[in-house]
Amino acid sequence: MTTIIDGKQVAASVIDAVKAATVQLEKEAGVKPGLAVVIVGDDPASHAYVSSKSRMAKECGFNSIQHTLPEATTQEELARLVETLNEDESIHGILVQLPLPGHLKSEPIIQSIRPEKDVDGLHVVNAGKVATGDLDGGLVSCTPAGAMVFVRRTHGDDLSGLNAVVIGRSNLFGKPMSALLLAANATVTTAHSRTKDLPAVCRNADILVAAVGRPEMVKADWVKPGATVIDVGINRISAEGRSRLVGDVAFEECAKVAGVITPVPGGVGPMTIAMLMANTVIAAYRKAGRTPPKF
Ligand code: GUN
Repeated sequence: MTTIIDGKQVAASVIDAVKAATVQLEKEAGVKPGLAVVIVGDDPASHAYVSSKSRMAKECGFNSIQHTLPEATTQEELARLVETLNEDESIHGILVQLPLPGHLKSEPIIQSIRPEKDVDGLHVVNAGKVATGDLDGGLVSCTPAGAMVFVRRTHGDDLSGLNAVVIGRSNLFGKPMSALLLAANATVTTAHSRTKDLPAVCRNADILVAAVGRPEMVKADWVKPGATVIDVGINRISAEGRSRLVGDVAFEECAKVAGVITPVPGGVGPMTIAMLMANTVIAAYRKAGRTPPKF
């Protein structure tokens, strides 16, 4: 029997742990985790994401602040806001929603967030800690952190002897995901568009993670029987006059071969916000000089 991971349910269990940790921190140290979410411009999809992040932060019992800036905001104005939030003792996490409007440079903004408040895990200091296997010192970016929760709940903390293949080498996902799997002792291959005989490489994977942005690219004959398949793709396709979301994995056919598989939607997606909340509570614990919980 194939297990289909219910991402909503796993995310809810992470959120429950975040809520409990928030109550404990407030009781023991009088500190409420503070998350500031910054959005610039009018992109409707970004507004929808940001609203759900702010709403979830409130639900977790955080001090949830949203800064909604007009499209015409200058680089300097945005930089000044980040600086103010860096200095604000009540704010433990800062997230600047991407993409920014075209006239703004995102990289200097992201790199100006204090690493200890970079709950997106995008600062080079945090990326570097993941790359060097220092997972307890920094903040891990939310989507790979969420995918690793699935991996740990399926295989435990130690992946010794298991082959993992990550398809995709982006800084946002593929590289940190490969580093996290390696830190957990998996034997890791990072495959990408230039990889020779990708199906054969994938067939070697006990854990196969797809993050390429190509609808239903991974087919059943790419999957090792019994493998764990984690689909990070979110692609909108139109078929028979209707639009729907699909992942990078051809779910129906791969589910017949895999041992464990994540659906799209309802797999990795719900984990990203849950891990953002987890990172915020971790940042607040560290600021208060306490050992944060593990998620
Ligand atoms: N836009 C889409 N996903 C994300 C994310 O995880 N973080 C940020 N900052 N922007 C995004």
